[in-house]
Amino acid sequence: MDRIELNKAKRFKGEFSPTPDKSISHRAVIFSSLSKGKSIIRNFLRAEDPMSTVNAFRALGVDIKDKGDDIVVNGNGIYGLIESHNIIDCGNSGTTIRLLSGVLAGNPFFSVLTGDESLRIRPMARVINPLQQMGAEIMARAENKYPPLAIKGKKLQPIQYKMPVASAQVKSAILLAGLYADGETVIAEPAKSRDHTERMLPAFGASINVNGLYVSVKGGTELKGTEVYVPGDFSSAAFFIIGALLIRDSDITITGVGMNPTRTGLLSVLREMGAEIEVHNIRNLSGEPVADIHCKGGAELKAVSINKEEIPALIDEFPILCVAATQANGTTTIRGAEELRVKESDRIRSMATELRKMGVAIEEFGDGLSIKGQSGLKGAIIESYGDHRIAMAMAMAGLIADGETIIHGVSSVNISFPGFFQIIRKLTL
Ligand code: S3P
Repeated sequence: MDRIELNKAKRFKGEFSPTPDKSISHRAVIFSSLSKGKSIIRNFLRAEDPMSTVNAFRALGVDIKDKGDDIVVNGNGIYGLIESHNIIDCGNSGTTIRLLSGVLAGNPFFSVLTGDESLRIRPMARVINPLQQMGAEIMARAENKYPPLAIKGKKLQPIQYKMPVASAQVKSAILLAGLYADGETVIAEPAKSRDHTERMLPAFGASINVNGLYVSVKGGTELKGTEVYVPGDFSSAAFFIIGALLIRDSDITITGVGMNPTRTGLLSVLREMGAEIEVHNIRNLSGEPVADIHCKGGAELKAVSINKEEIPALIDEFPILCVAATQANGTTTIRGAEELRVKESDRIRSMATELRKMGVAIEEFGDGLSIKGQSGLKGAIIESYGDHRIAMAMAMAGLIADGETIIHGVSSVNISFPGFFQIIRKLTL
């Protein structure tokens, strides 16, 4: 049965590494597939989302060998893909469908991309518009809004594009299309979104330039295979950081966590809330900062106000941050977060609905929430909406609630974090 029962935990104790980074795993497969020669991806995330990317590139003719934690890719270069015989199923993965759209826009064959029920209502105009401006032929359902997408790749022209939303998926799709354009493609972001593409693509030989909120790529350069090490996923570690802060006698160390500053906005917010989180042993792996995180339970948290500029660096941590807010002293307000409405579920609605079931007073706005803190959570029957991060955030809420919590739809954790419940078991032994 796709559900789990949870009860109040006494403590989290121990040391573990989170699963490898999802965003970096996707990119490593995509860039390797577009490179000539062999690439080795070490510590690859073997979860449903990155496997959607692996299967997509296999369908496009790339030789990808799965060797457990390592993936070996033998690429044929940016012009080496072949037309897929079938539609390409991107599953639940927004990163797969959006980044792949950028690649296929420059490949002179026909492709159809689709996904699961959730992906088929995720907005695609944000990638279709700039790619059409570059000369690609793309059509989509509901007047070019939603998947399935049909793409006929073309010779592309470079563009100068001002992105209306801060989105690493859109930025990366345009950068990938830019590899196929003659000349320099320049993108301006309204706020800094995660920069894994800009960090990793040069290792494969791409010519990328970053200047504040501007990123540019020169087209026509061949990419060459290399070796990439994927660090632990900060977004997966985040559930346990907050779990440990909220479960009184906890003491945990999370090793090998990716600490890219475009991802770790949650740490600044938690520190502002009064949490003490130690970061040790900072090192660099394949161009990404990595560290070990130590945190303890029993923190007295204060409510905070979070605004639009802070959202991109904690975009995926919104659900678990809402759980932290239920325990803070005062009312926490999160605004400027309208992007959360178009994630794997409407995460503003999902968190408001599910936390209310546990007794939390929440006001919902178009672009966020306000959450009354110091709420004694009551166990409840919870729905994940098939959204991995809702399932995991609500699991942490279940571990601090009085009485039993039942969460339905927990197999969704396999999208990004297989083994999530095993780590909970290990830390609560
Ligand atoms: C991702 C970017 C973010 C994030 C998603 C993964 C990526 O989406 O929410 O989980 O790998 O580029 P947006 O770029 O659309 O905000």
